[in-house]
This record gives sequence, structure tokens and C-alpha cells, in this order.
Amino acid sequence: MFQINDNYQKLPGSYLFSTIAKKVAAFSEANPDKNIIRLGIGDVTQPLAPAIIEAMHKAVDEMADAKTFRGYAPDLGYEFLRKAISDNDYKARGCDIEADEIFVSDGAKSDSGNIQEIFSTENRIAVCDPVYPVYVDSNVMAGRTGTYDPATEMWSNVIYMPCTRENNFVPEFPKETPDMIYLCLPNNPTGTTITKAQLQEWVDYANKVGAVIIYDGAYEAYISEDNVAHSIYECEGAKTCAIELKSFSKNAGFTGVRLGYTVVPKELKCGDVSLHSMWARRHGTKFNGAPYIIQRAGEAVYSDAGKAQLKEQIAYYMKNASTIKSGLQEAGFEVYGGVNAPYIWLKTPDQMTSWEFFDYLLEKANVVGTPGSGFGPSGEGYFRLTAFGSYENTVAALERIKAL
Ligand SMILES: Cc1ncc(COP(=O)(O)O)c(C=O)c1O
Repeated sequence: MFQINDNYQKLPGSYLFSTIAKKVAAFSEANPDKNIIRLGIGDVTQPLAPAIIEAMHKAVDEMADAKTFRGYAPDLGYEFLRKAISDNDYKARGCDIEADEIFVSDGAKSDSGNIQEIFSTENRIAVCDPVYPVYVDSNVMAGRTGTYDPATEMWSNVIYMPCTRENNFVPEFPKETPDMIYLCLPNNPTGTTITKAQLQEWVDYANKVGAVIIYDGAYEAYISEDNVAHSIYECEGAKTCAIELKSFSKNAGFTGVRLGYTVVPKELKCGDVSLHSMWARRHGTKFNGAPYIIQRAGEAVYSDAGKAQLKEQIAYYMKNASTIKSGLQEAGFEVYGGVNAPYIWLKTPDQMTSWEFFDYLLEKANVVGTPGSGFGPSGEGYFRLTAFGSYENTVAALERIKAL
């Protein structure tokens, strides 16, 4: 008789966004005349930039000709893309990351879920609370998190680092020593971030205690303040303690196109064992390369035209962010984030729980957001709105919220 991976049975409830989708579908069915504005899931709405579309068309044409047709892509990514990433995202910022330390993938969700696989199940993870749910859930599936307590909504073997208004959403070094530390900066869901000096302290801490930092930089393109690092490798010593995950979803609208990458520096070792070699082995065995057409699209992100067009796209979303932020402030809400990230994190009014506020906003304003408690117990009493809607919808949603 076969057995299943029992760890899956430990996962509580369904994935946050499935629950939201079900609630919204039920409301919509019961109220077909209502125009619902969705500022919940962090999905982009603007079309791909012209430079990217042009590169994709060209690559499609190459696939139609036997002389330029491409089959399986190299497991770790085409050299043209790895070099463009190394030059633009790292060397241009003074970070010494070589093209062969970059592993191209189909996105940061897969990488952030898969990366734990090269670490022992004996390791203890530390996560910010609230947190992007994939980090915890993928460790649950691997059997690394102990038992779940429904009362506290916490796992016995996970170290939580609460990020609340009391500590300005800056994680503090935990009392117990972790082996793996997940940091996502700028942060989803809180939309807040830390300074480069504060990040340097985390790098120093990880090197001191022998922990690895899994650094998710999915929202890097939204950084607007000068004292915030665009890569963890801007910090001294990061190459011996950090893996960086990046996505093309939020900086270039690839949520449906799918492209990302992970940096594993060659200097990152556990004793004599190179994590770079381990990840190369894992990638080579389980991943057959991102599609050629998509990697050419990724390359166009770094062209002069691509950069200029994407700067405008980011500015468009950040205009939404400031519209939401100032609108909520005018309406008397306590609001965070929205300066270096496309997320606005607000304190729910009148002691409402996150889900109570979700229902209230859906029913009274027909606006969908994301309950903070879905990201962890310290998210209770908070709520996330995204700047990824259209400008018109964002303005309309805020008018409705202000009229409540
Ligand atoms: C923190 C964080 N990491 C990763 C992802 C997923 O990125 P991708 O679309 O590249 O899989 C998201 C998506 O919302 C995210 O918020």
C-alpha cells in the first residue's frame, strides 16, 4: 500500500488567494449588478512593454525557421540573459556577481518554494510575520516546521519575527538561533523595507551565527529611497551567507509570461560543500530551462528602450500607490508602505479583524483587498491593498472607501 507525504495533511486551510477568490465569486453571484474593484492579489494589469513584445515576436519568428530554431534551453539559462542580468542588476551596482552564479527559472514562486530542498530538514527556519505564505508552506511540505497550533496559527519549529507598527515593521534578531532566514525586502505584504545599514546588520548576524539568508527581492524595482539596497550583495560579506531570488513579474509584468532567477554565489558553502553546485545539480535534474522566447523577452528588459518603458510602468503603479496612501490617510486610516513597494498596509479601523474588514469593504465598497491575517498571526488587524490596478479603478476604489 502506498503512503503519502503526510506533511501535506498538516497544511491548514486552503491557499489564501483561493479563499479570497471563493468569497468574491460568491458575493458576485449574489450581487451581479455590483462592479467589483480588485486590489487584492498582487497581479499586474498593464500590458507588456513594446520593447519586450518586439523581442518576443522576433524570437517567435526564429522558432519558425530551422536555421534559428531552438529546442531545450540550457538548464541554467541562456548566456545572453545571464550576462544581461549580471551586468545590469549586479555589476552596474558594484556587486561582483558573475553570469554563472545566476540560475534562470520560471519565477520566484517556484524558486522560493524549491530552494529549501537543498537544506537539511533538521534546519530551523526564521520568517518575518506577516510573510509571503510560500516560504512557510513549502517548509511544511518538506517536514521542517513541526506541528501547527490552530489557536496561535503558529508552527512549533518555526521562528517568527513579528513585524508590526511597534517595531516599524523591521524584523529583530530572534532569541533562538535560526539556520535559514527568509527576508523579503521591500516586503510583501507590508510594503515596508529596511535601510542598507539595517540589511548589513542581518548579513553580519547571519555570518556570525552560520545561518543562510534566503533574500527575496521580487519588489526591488519599486525602491525609491537612496538608502535602500537593491541587492543583498551590496552588503559586505553577503556572498558567504545569502541566496537572492528575483522575479520579472513585478518589474516587467511577467506574471503570466513567467521568468525569474536565483543567485547562488560560489563562495556560499556549508563546510566544503558548495551550494552553487547543489543548486546547479537540482536545477539540472528537475528543471529543463525557461523557454527561449521568454528569455529573449527577459533580455529586452535590459535594453535601453525596455528600461525606459519599464520606468514609466513602475511610475504608473507607484502613482496608484500614492493615490491609495494619501486617499486612505485623508479618510483617517493608519497607513504604511507604498513608498518603496506597490503595497499599502493599513490598520483596520474600529478593532475589526482582518477578515471582518475584508467583508466590510467587499460589501459596502465592492472593493477587494487581502486580509493581513492571511500572511501570519501578526498580520491580524491589518489589511493589504495593491497598486497594481488601473489608475481609473484605483481612483474609483478610493472614492468609494472615502465615502464609507
Ligand atoms: C515576495 C514574493 N516573492 C515571489 C513572488 C512570485 O513571483 P513570480 O511571479 O516570479 O513567481 C511573489 C508574488 O506575488 C511575491 O510577492
